[in-house]
Amino acid sequence: MAKPKVVLGVSGGIAAYKACELLRRLTESGHDVRVVPTDSALHFVGAATWSALSGNPVSSEVWESVHEVPHVRIGQAADLVVVAPATADMLAKAAHGLADDLLTNTLLTARCPVVFAPAMHTEMWEHPATQENVATLRRRGAVVIEPAVGRLTGVDTGKGRLPDPAEIFEVCRRILARGVTAPDLAGRHVVVSAGGTREPLDPVRYLGNRSSGKQGYALAKAAAARGARVTLVEANTGIPDPAGVDVVHVGTAVQLREAVLKAAADADAVVMAAAVADFRPAVYAAGKIKKKDDGGAPTVELVRNPDVLAELSADRALPGQVVVGFAAETDDVLANGRAKLRRKGCDLLVVNEVGERKTFGSEENEAVVLAADGAETPVPYGPKEALAETVWDLVLPRLRATT
Ligand code: CTP
Repeated sequence: MAKPKVVLGVSGGIAAYKACELLRRLTESGHDVRVVPTDSALHFVGAATWSALSGNPVSSEVWESVHEVPHVRIGQAADLVVVAPATADMLAKAAHGLADDLLTNTLLTARCPVVFAPAMHTEMWEHPATQENVATLRRRGAVVIEPAVGRLTGVDTGKGRLPDPAEIFEVCRRILARGVTAPDLAGRHVVVSAGGTREPLDPVRYLGNRSSGKQGYALAKAAAARGARVTLVEANTGIPDPAGVDVVHVGTAVQLREAVLKAAADADAVVMAAAVADFRPAVYAAGKIKKKDDGGAPTVELVRNPDVLAELSADRALPGQVVVGFAAETDDVLANGRAKLRRKGCDLLVVNEVGERKTFGSEENEAVVLAADGAETPVPYGPKEALAETVWDLVLPRLRATT
């Protein structure tokens, strides 16, 4: 089988050196990579490096090998174009359809999925011009990965760092694996909750649960790779922020509710994969609860937490917003699942059977997805990534039409 053809566009930022690592990952995993740097990128990393690492010729301009019509052919032949780093200037050119070098020509002729991994200073990223260009590219179906937060060139820190090359590679790999010609969640905003809430009892103790957050992260990553703008509301997972995802960190059920409702205000879909505590201690003790000399133990009074899923379902922020819940059941899985779907009022309920093959903390999952319209989709035992893709496949036809 022919190797998938990937164009690695590199524009002129200091993070160009990190694209060498992305290139190595792409070639080592069996992709035929053609590197197309801009002239500015060649100030940071020379053509010899790109050529040696890719095993392919490297040029930044359209005047070499003109008989091969490279300004058209490279884009036409590509299965995926990834631009990393994408500077503010490159995003502007791509959004406006400029074509003054080989990379910008390639972007205009490519009909395959296109991924941009921006890297720039925070001010440039936040500038309305850049934000509008990013919105334009996303609306047209490109995947624009959110930059990471951290150390930037010089003494500055903030949002604008190129995401880890391993994360960019992961986004590319998922897009290629699905064989999609256009990211099918492009232009959509989705919200995913993940992890388990912790309800504090005193400064050192909490009521918690065993949710690892892996399924929620798989959902968030899959949606980002399919082109969605993703807000991940995370509770106590300790998992690093995935590339291309806006992460909001919360601790308790009440904080999770607030963050989810805020993000849901303009969301096309909300997936509640988090294990939200149903109860919290009625009183938070400001000091550590001490043992008493009489050998007795304190009684902890609990109060109900809000049911976020039920609230989201009953009071949709937008007409046609799709709401998805999760349920872990041990007995009468389908009957309990159907009853829960009706009780919560959501559109889809992913019912996990928890038993010997534990769902919590494992890499695998087995489920049935129940739909409010009566459809039932069994998902065989397999990686949480596969279940994540199935959930989005089921959300997709239920999304409201966009204008
Ligand atoms: N959920 C929520 N808010 C809560 C509790 C749960 O939003 N306070 C959401 C979870 O994120 C999940 C779904 O509801 O998507 C299922 O939670 P589950 O605990 O199985 O449902 P319960 O109504 O608590 O049912 P049970 O009586 O089986 O505990």
